[in-house]
Amino acid sequence: MAYQSGFGNHFETESIKGTLPKGMNSPQKPEHGLYAEQLSGTAFTAPRAKNQRSWLYRIHPAVVQGEFIETGHSTWISSEKFGKVIRTPAPLRFNEFPFPTAPKDFWDSLYTYVLNGSPESKTGCAIHLYACNQSMKNRFAYNADAEMMIVPQLGAIKVKTELGVLELEPNWIGVIPRGVKFTVELTDTQARGYVCENFGLPFALPDLGPIGANGLANARDFETPVAAFEDQTGSFELFTRYQGSNWRAELKHSPLDVVAWHGNYAPYRYDLRKYNTIGSISFDHPDPSIFTVMTSPSLLHGTANIDFVIFTERWMVSENTFRPPYYHRNVMNEFMGLVHGKYDAKPDGFVPGGASVHNCMTGHGPDKDAFEKATAGALKPEKYSNTLAFMWESVYPFLPTEQVIRSSWNQKNYSDCWQNLPKLFRP
Ligand code: FE2
Repeated sequence: MAYQSGFGNHFETESIKGTLPKGMNSPQKPEHGLYAEQLSGTAFTAPRAKNQRSWLYRIHPAVVQGEFIETGHSTWISSEKFGKVIRTPAPLRFNEFPFPTAPKDFWDSLYTYVLNGSPESKTGCAIHLYACNQSMKNRFAYNADAEMMIVPQLGAIKVKTELGVLELEPNWIGVIPRGVKFTVELTDTQARGYVCENFGLPFALPDLGPIGANGLANARDFETPVAAFEDQTGSFELFTRYQGSNWRAELKHSPLDVVAWHGNYAPYRYDLRKYNTIGSISFDHPDPSIFTVMTSPSLLHGTANIDFVIFTERWMVSENTFRPPYYHRNVMNEFMGLVHGKYDAKPDGFVPGGASVHNCMTGHGPDKDAFEKATAGALKPEKYSNTLAFMWESVYPFLPTEQVIRSSWNQKNYSDCWQNLPKLFRP
């Protein structure tokens, strides 16, 4: 597969040469008998620097489809109207998300852990895990509520979209913009990972401030697919997420029929191993915002709807310092996942494919073993290798779903990891 480099660029791509109109968007008769269709990701009047739209030249416009029929989804709950949540300040941690015993595809396997905000208000997000063992067969989908950031944890997948194919595997992330139609094929026999359904403003690269012009995630390392179309007729299904509900329509053609497109509203992927990690070279553990990969701003300046933050390979060299994450209580709310390896504050109990949730003002930090290791011995430069943990952090508290609280993989004794921290006070 081929990709175009850069983040937010105005890309131009055609799988049949000469398809894109010259100097205009909507010619009277597009080349090759195609239809022209605009896909807007922002309001028409959004400021130019934030305006996102693409023009698609396709075999069938999106209006050619069967009637929408509401079908529901038993485990995907992105609105309190469609499932129970539990308002709890308790710290939460979950063992690995289990694979299904029967055949299940990506769309059907999505299982909601937490949510906040709402699709109606275009704020907040819902966080799901997927664990699937078959490709979406003749099934396509789009999400009118949200863009979807996918963090694969196990197994490679191919996300075939209207605008081209994203190949994803662990260590990568992929983002499908709101409304873009796609299907997910398994490359391996099974796949598992995390999905953030972002109802708010699209993820963007953070400002760098005093860091300067380079560092963290560099724009040139983002990849957007080139146009790739299929001209298939038959019997297909199209699933839609709309205001937290799930709908189905019949199609007589594959909706992945865009022959050429241009614009800046498109899926992308990013290899997290290209992230330029920056940290302390003197003393103290910086706040985790130093590890931000992407941010979806809220309407309150400087306060994220969602930040996507990674804890990956890095040197620890700070002197005279408690090096793991300090004990803390934050106004922000944290959902963490682990792709592989161990996380320094929780060497045990926080497992790949698992998750943890620490909400507004709930105390958390290293467990007893991590505390003892960090406070004993000499502080030599140390490399943290073979680890990739990540966090979605939001200004809005995460409400866990009742299904995940009641699940067999909820670690009901999670708080015990701190209760044996001894009193060390010496007046
Ligand atoms: Fe935290």
